[in-house]
Amino acid sequence: MDGREIVELCLKHSLYSWSATGAVNPLPITRAEGVYMYTAEGRRILDFNSQLMSVNIGHSHPKVVAAMKAAADGLIFSHPGTATEPRARLSKLLAEITPGNINTFFYTLGGAEANESAIRAARLFTGRQKILVRYRSYHGGTNATLQLTGDPRRWANEPGMPGVVRVMDPLPYNFSFGDTPEEIVRNNLTYVEEVIQYEGPHTIAAMFIETVTGTNGILVPPPGYLPKLRELLTKYGILLVCDEVMAGLGRTGKLFAFEHGPVQPDIVTLAKGLTSSYVPLGAMGVSDPIAEHFRKNVFWGGLTYNAHPFCLNVALAALDVLIGEGMVENAARLEPVMHHHMEALALKHPSVRRHRNVGLFGIVELQRDRRGTPLAPYNTQHPALASFTKAVLESGVYIIGRWDNFMANPPLCITEEQLAEGFDAIDRALPILDAVVEA
Ligand SMILES: Cc1ncc(COP(=O)(O)O)c(C=O)c1O
Repeated sequence: MDGREIVELCLKHSLYSWSATGAVNPLPITRAEGVYMYTAEGRRILDFNSQLMSVNIGHSHPKVVAAMKAAADGLIFSHPGTATEPRARLSKLLAEITPGNINTFFYTLGGAEANESAIRAARLFTGRQKILVRYRSYHGGTNATLQLTGDPRRWANEPGMPGVVRVMDPLPYNFSFGDTPEEIVRNNLTYVEEVIQYEGPHTIAAMFIETVTGTNGILVPPPGYLPKLRELLTKYGILLVCDEVMAGLGRTGKLFAFEHGPVQPDIVTLAKGLTSSYVPLGAMGVSDPIAEHFRKNVFWGGLTYNAHPFCLNVALAALDVLIGEGMVENAARLEPVMHHHMEALALKHPSVRRHRNVGLFGIVELQRDRRGTPLAPYNTQHPALASFTKAVLESGVYIIGRWDNFMANPPLCITEEQLAEGFDAIDRALPILDAVVEA
């Protein structure tokens, strides 16, 4: 099929997520390798977002492709009640690489199901019902996880599952908890503690956080926030669940983002980077006390494809490449390089308001005047942003733009030259946004 035919049939016979199909203009992608993807007509595009911040090791890594072929010659499927070698190996590996006392894993098909499982595990373990979450967050597209999600993708699915209590983040969109990190942490956690009191601490099973918030703004917690949050939750017997579906497995320059805290969650959820999206897989990792609880008590959860042997084999190969080829270290090494590129954009372009990145998890925030007014209010889109991302794409680089920002989340195997290639295209397109900055 040529590109036009692929697009026409996709739009005619399939629905696109979070969109009115008539408003989507999808790229016809037929091949991808390393940091590049290729359209049906052979146009090369630098994937500066790792698809959905998920192809951490880059596309079509030959070692993983070979492992997939070998896995297809072995046991492809066996039901979740059986014991398989990939399940034994991956669970042992995850227990070894996950810090602290998280040594036991439950497998799902993606991040949302991992979080659904975490809701259930937290409720069953604590005997409490409520879940505390933050507004600037995304935790998945299923019924329950959309209620955990703070961003507007939740609205169409409300009222949904009861028992979710939402609080403001240390870094809300407009409101400020203070001027210094110390002030922000103190004021935010004083406020969270007051909410806990109103709700009744004995009714709250867990708090879910994205350790570094992803689509809602690459929000790196202020120094001291994570350990102090942990302290607060422990005081009330509330579990800490770190959703590392996006931030985990190398994206931030450490294997787990909670290592930056440092903080030790009771439950961690993973997906995306677990197989680098080569096949669907998610996981919930639980601490020893929770695992012990479920040795004596039923874990009321299950899926036909729980612990799917083929997917677990792919995860083993993808993690072997991620860790064995030093990609986590590469993300850490390139953190200052990305910072430098962003700083150069900020110095040159009046549309750049501020920027930040941890590892290769980066964002540039945009303004519409020199006083720092965000390019677009919360949940709105300025038309110039779409023109800008289109121009970047026409230069051969794929980025995502949303509300008042665009992101830079390339595969963790990217080189300095390829990083420069991405920022060069961004630099050349930014005059489109500079032109709408009011004097
Ligand atoms: C932080 C976070 N949690 C959960 C999810 C949901 O994962 P999935 O789409 O694999 O269900 C996502 C997806 O983007 C995510 O970014």
